[in-house]
Amino acid sequence: MNAFNFQNKKLYAESVPVSDLIRSYGSPLYIYSKGQIETNWGLFKKSFGDHPYLICYAVKANSNLAVLNILAKLGSGFDIVSLGELERVIAAGGDAKKCVFSGVAKDEISIQKALEYGIYCFNVESEDELDRIEFVASSMNAVAPISVRVNPNVDANTHPYISTGLAENKFGVDADVALSMYKKAALSDSLKVCGLDYHIGSQITEIAPFIEALERALELVEKLKSENILVEHLDIGGGVGVSYDDEKIINIEDYLNSVTNRAKEMKILVEPGRSIVANAGIFVTRVEYLKRNNLKSFAIVDGAMNDLIRPSLYESFHQAVLIDDNSIGINDNWDIVGPVCESADFLAKNRNLTLEKGDYIAIMTAGAYGFVLSSNYNSRPRVPEVMISGKHHSLVRKRETIESLFENESLFEDDTNQ
Ligand code: LLP
Repeated sequence: MNAFNFQNKKLYAESVPVSDLIRSYGSPLYIYSKGQIETNWGLFKKSFGDHPYLICYAVKANSNLAVLNILAKLGSGFDIVSLGELERVIAAGGDAKKCVFSGVAKDEISIQKALEYGIYCFNVESEDELDRIEFVASSMNAVAPISVRVNPNVDANTHPYISTGLAENKFGVDADVALSMYKKAALSDSLKVCGLDYHIGSQITEIAPFIEALERALELVEKLKSENILVEHLDIGGGVGVSYDDEKIINIEDYLNSVTNRAKEMKILVEPGRSIVANAGIFVTRVEYLKRNNLKSFAIVDGAMNDLIRPSLYESFHQAVLIDDNSIGINDNWDIVGPVCESADFLAKNRNLTLEKGDYIAIMTAGAYGFVLSSNYNSRPRVPEVMISGKHHSLVRKRETIESLFENESLFEDDTNQ
């Protein structure tokens, strides 16, 4: 399936012209394809075959309730990193018993709630956190299922901001620390050792770092076995890259086959985020002005870095295409920039397009880490999100109003000057 494609030079989202969606919902706008989400998730499922598995979609990639609901209906589990994400999963009809709880700083309330909901496993990131989970569980007379997040010190060859498996990153613990945490957990009445996990980074486009991390994790599993500590599942994290331009990406089936072949006796958990939703979403924005000087040509659009921060934050590339490719206007190499008062406010740079005012540009592969990272910077209301399935579409998050931006604020009542 390819949810977004051109028919007669018009960009379609599944069976609907994107221009129709703009007419109904306005600009800027995020559009998601239900069919593409299902296809992407289905590829993970199919790749596991008969091997025991749990796909825990990484909620942080796109946490819209409609997205979570589509995945919940497929039977997906979820990787959450906050109580907010857990509550979202439940509100969307997801099963807490299929949730793993990642993140380096779980607070007591979140741990308590997660235990009450009966989550599948806590992915523990430090010795202090293990102590806190044990404390909360014992005060509730509960037993917390745990996995230790190992930092395998593997270079994932990705942008430094999204690399997580190097010793210099804050995530996980070294293998020797993990070993002592497992020994401690095995002796505790309030903790139950279930798994071992790692996640080495995001947007990884080669298989080698994944295999290296896997082998280091399996060495630790063996070491634990020799200490009589049995680990039932191995959580290999997320990180599978997608093709934003025309980069070669990992074959998911090959990757998962090599995991299941090496970890034959273990249930495999995987935490894909980007690879489930990135190519299932686009961000559409309107050209407001064209401005050229002797060095640069700017297409100033109504969407900005507060709506889609990936290009500014990671210098990431997204394809930019006209939704109606009728070739009228000025052909040039355009920087597509937004209204926010920052020079870092760009969505794409140096793109050869024929543009005129009023054109709509789709920023492709924007379904992951798009809306979720958006903000109200410059007091800009956040944009709506629309889900599409075949010919059917509906608003799954409405456009924020300007009033809603300051509804939680109040004036300072200073009576000292009266
Ligand atoms: N599991 C854990 C523990 C994670 O930290 C992450 C992502 C995932 C799974 C999902 O990884 P994925 O399959 O999506 O690569 N905002 C950045 C990406 C940050 C990723 C954070 N962790 C971006 O826009 O590229």
